[in-house]
Amino acid sequence: MTSTVSAGRAVVPRRLLMCRPEYFDVNYSINPWMHPEKPTDAGSALVQWEELHGLYRSLGHTVELVEPVPGLPDMVFAANGATVVGGKVLGARFRHRERTAEGPAYLDWFAANGYQDILWPEFINEGEGDYLQVGDLLLAGTGFRTDPRSHLEAQEFFGVPVISLSLVNPNFYHLDTALSVLGPGEVMYYPAAFSPGSQAVLRRLFPDAVLASDQDAAVFGLNAFCDGLNVLLPQAATGLAGQLAERGYRPIGVNLTELLKAGGSVKCCTLEL
Ligand code: ARG
Repeated sequence: MTSTVSAGRAVVPRRLLMCRPEYFDVNYSINPWMHPEKPTDAGSALVQWEELHGLYRSLGHTVELVEPVPGLPDMVFAANGATVVGGKVLGARFRHRERTAEGPAYLDWFAANGYQDILWPEFINEGEGDYLQVGDLLLAGTGFRTDPRSHLEAQEFFGVPVISLSLVNPNFYHLDTALSVLGPGEVMYYPAAFSPGSQAVLRRLFPDAVLASDQDAAVFGLNAFCDGLNVLLPQAATGLAGQLAERGYRPIGVNLTELLKAGGSVKCCTLEL
């Protein structure tokens, strides 16, 4: 059994929502990682996803599952399904029609599982793909998917200060592909994914942040999940793993290469409840 405390860092058990990639496929392209002409293997996507799911459970986290829907191959990316802050749920309204049906499918799960304060949004937002809570703030991405007007809608609904950040590189089209929350005041991010002004905001808010190299960002290393001690991140992000270990975190490399063909990895598969 692995210990849950190390170098002053400790696991805070989480409740997570995931979706089995039963109907996973890449049959359309809505981000530069997706190449429908290249073969995908739904079987190995499932095996890789099961490993992540098992890992969360073995680390002491609770994982809830939402039923996958045929014809929604990206539904495995649960992070996009909604945003939950303090028990309130902001529904997701997707930018591309290929994913629009996922919004109501996820909201049905919340309605059926005791969540009462649920808002169907006016503006496009892709859930926790673009909204990341760090301490008392909600970091909010825009530029490719989430409409900047959604940021004000989220701030009004949650009553939490929202910090708008502009994404400028299409390879990092959601905030969670370019920035990962480690703790209440700690993040890691890839500066070049952000506009100069947003880089300045990040430097001001997080002067001690872990900065990702081009190589680690290119293998989706920032699409990570941290529980206070363990950091689950794509296996290939070895530089980031070293930087995290130096800071007392316990990096755990996860192999999700099949899901990366759709432009997603660890964090994309994980919605924090
Ligand atoms: N193919 C999906 C899309 O482009 C991938 C979503 C990844 N999710 C995330 N939270 N970054 O929408």
